[in-house]
Amino acid sequence: MTRMVGCWSLVLAGVLALAVQVLYFSPIDPIIILERPPKASPFAVNNHLQSVTKLGEGILKDPEDVCVDKHGTLYTASRDGWILRLHRNGSWEHWKNIHSPTMLGITVTTQGAVVVCDSDKGLLKVTEDGVTVLVSQVNGSTLSLADEVVEASDGSLYFSIASTKYGLHNWYLDVLEARPHGQLLKHNPSLNETTVLLDNLGFANGVALSKDQDYVLVCETWKYRCLRHWLKGEKKGKTETFIENLPGGPDNIHLAPDGSFWVAMFQVTHEKMEFVHSSKVLKHLVASIPRLTKLMGGMTKKAMVANVGSDGKIMKIFDDSQGKVMNFVTSALEFEGHLYMGSLNSNFIGKLPLRSEF
Ligand SMILES: *[C@@H]1O[C@H](CO)[C@@H](O)[C@H](O)[C@H]1NC(C)=O
Ligand SMILES: *[C@@H]1O[C@H](CO)[C@@H](O)[C@H](O)[C@H]1NC(C)=O
Ligand SMILES: *[C@@H]1O[C@H](CO)[C@@H](O)[C@H](O)[C@H]1NC(C)=O
Repeated sequence: MTRMVGCWSLVLAGVLALAVQVLYFSPIDPIIILERPPKASPFAVNNHLQSVTKLGEGILKDPEDVCVDKHGTLYTASRDGWILRLHRNGSWEHWKNIHSPTMLGITVTTQGAVVVCDSDKGLLKVTEDGVTVLVSQVNGSTLSLADEVVEASDGSLYFSIASTKYGLHNWYLDVLEARPHGQLLKHNPSLNETTVLLDNLGFANGVALSKDQDYVLVCETWKYRCLRHWLKGEKKGKTETFIENLPGGPDNIHLAPDGSFWVAMFQVTHEKMEFVHSSKVLKHLVASIPRLTKLMGGMTKKAMVANVGSDGKIMKIFDDSQGKVMNFVTSALEFEGHLYMGSLNSNFIGKLPLRSEF
């Protein structure tokens, strides 16, 4: 009997020691429940993304985003530090080496400059002449995890900071913590001034302007929704939900020529790991053991893009339900009747013709 009690005390002491260790080393301060993605999508699986043509296969590494300039030249940032471009004649050019493995969203300005979000260095402007840092600090603190950027016709740049607390290497902790550390910002290059438009966003990701530029959209990945912030008109300065209950975590969003939007979505958490999000103790445990943390994100192989009307309604969804050809699609840009898709898990850009039967 005494031996039994002694044995149990040992086990108890061990459990307590582990708990103290986990809590002490846990980097996160979690809220208990992460909002769950809606279980069922009203759209049937179609695997249309399995019929993409692969562009730049082998010379690109995880190209997260794509943009096209007025000449029809396509640009993307590769994980090897290069910004590459695809000419109309089909030839790829290693255009500028930024020597940075952390580039995400990319856009072309009306002046022809490329602006890219470097999740470590901030907002960069790249021209034939070289690279300049547009924004590296806001209010004295270093910009972290700049994610997507878009230029308005007045030259202002709207961009997102996914998380002011976590970086690209540990973004998953932001999801585990489930406290909103994201922001939408505006940079005015002529005044060299940066302001925060929206704060407390749940992993602020894609940013897009409407066709008339009367509002800007920003997507909150782990809230499965995008917000609309009015820039003009009666509702100027007001923010409302544009679309919610998306069937995946929204990543980049791009304006389509007809005024609708293309939003790419990914699986924020592995299906088999969802239970972790309902327990503070499990979250701390997972967050304090890096190998477990890595298991949490991007594991369910799948790709999904949605065409969303300017009324915030989903019109169609294309997917690769098991990620057989494309996985972890992060952006979809419509250009001349085709979709160009970037991915954080592919060595190519997927090109899909937008035929009427789709
Ligand atoms: C394709 O176009 C680019 C830009 O005009 C040019 O530099 C390149 O030489 C062309 N390549 C081929 C194979 O024609
Ligand atoms: C813009 O302002 C920042 C500090 O707020 C400064 O470091 C940077 O040099 C300025 N850029 C230009 C082009 O004046
Ligand atoms: C800068 O900090 C001040 C004081 O904390 C705050 O009122 C202001 O909104 C901040 N501005 C930005 C752009 O974060």
